[in-house]
Amino acid sequence: MFDLKGKKALVTGSSRGIGRGIALALAKQGADVAINYRSEKEEAEKVVSEIKKMKREAFAVQTDVSSVDEVMRMFGELKKKWGKLDILVNNAGVAYYSTFEAMTEEEWDKTLDVNLKGQFLCAREAVKLMKEKGGKIINISSIASGGAGIGGTRIAHYIASKGGVAALTEALAVELAPYKINVNAIGPGFIDTDMTKDLISDPKARQGLLARIPKGRFGKPTDIGAAVAFLASDEADYITGALLYVDGGWLAG
Ligand SMILES: NC(=O)c1ccc[n+]([C@@H]2O[C@H](COP(=O)([O-])OP(=O)(O)OC[C@H]3O[C@@H](n4cnc5c(N)ncnc54)[C@H](OP(=O)(O)O)[C@@H]3O)[C@@H](O)[C@H]2O)c1
Repeated sequence: MFDLKGKKALVTGSSRGIGRGIALALAKQGADVAINYRSEKEEAEKVVSEIKKMKREAFAVQTDVSSVDEVMRMFGELKKKWGKLDILVNNAGVAYYSTFEAMTEEEWDKTLDVNLKGQFLCAREAVKLMKEKGGKIINISSIASGGAGIGGTRIAHYIASKGGVAALTEALAVELAPYKINVNAIGPGFIDTDMTKDLISDPKARQGLLARIPKGRFGKPTDIGAAVAFLASDEADYITGALLYVDGGWLAG
């Protein structure tokens, strides 16, 4: 089950953190993986080496997913190399902290441009490569996406972007179903990465957060990787338009 041999996958923002965990999980199940990054070439190349050691094809591609020109160039490269794409994981994301009153237009735009517009741009290009044979698009949202009872201070722009991802996922699931393209989202809970390291390393914040997680631990990038590998597999063919929370029970608690 969950065999991805022969599948071609692109994971955005996979030089580190959750994206890296997803790329390794897909490769473990047999997929060839394109590693997208924005600035950390060395980190991206390390992930490429790890995947090559598993005897899968991998290469790194630098692209700012918020730039339409760069996204078009990246997909042009994928088309030339593979001629198809089976799996797109829209993972690249940023988080800036600011009180709502102090939030600048620039912070708002940067957050929405990477976290939401980036997913739109990549999905739009992916459809062109998936239309004939079908495919799987998996968008990374968050437990903080609105409607799930998680607010959070100083990240209004981030929450708005992740709510947009949840809405985009539903819309695309319906519109792309006739092409056999499944579109789902994953809502990670608190995962131990660079994005969360300041909070996790602060003893008081750490204790408060752990107290809210029924499983009693922070998530690992591999926890998200496993869920993505499942949604990318043939066995998940009847799942589309879903938002799967992978949060150690946070929302249930
Ligand atoms: N960590 C959590 O607890 C958590 C919870 C819920 C949701 N999420 C979501 O999960 C995703 C990954 O988060 P993470 O914690 O792994 O973050 P991270 O450790 O900060 O890694 C972010 C990744 O995204 C890339 N990236 C950032 N901006 C980009 C852009 N404009 N174009 C292309 N790549 C870009 C980074 O590449 P460079 O290194 O080259 O900049 C890096 O590979 C994000 O969408 C985040 O919102 C995280």
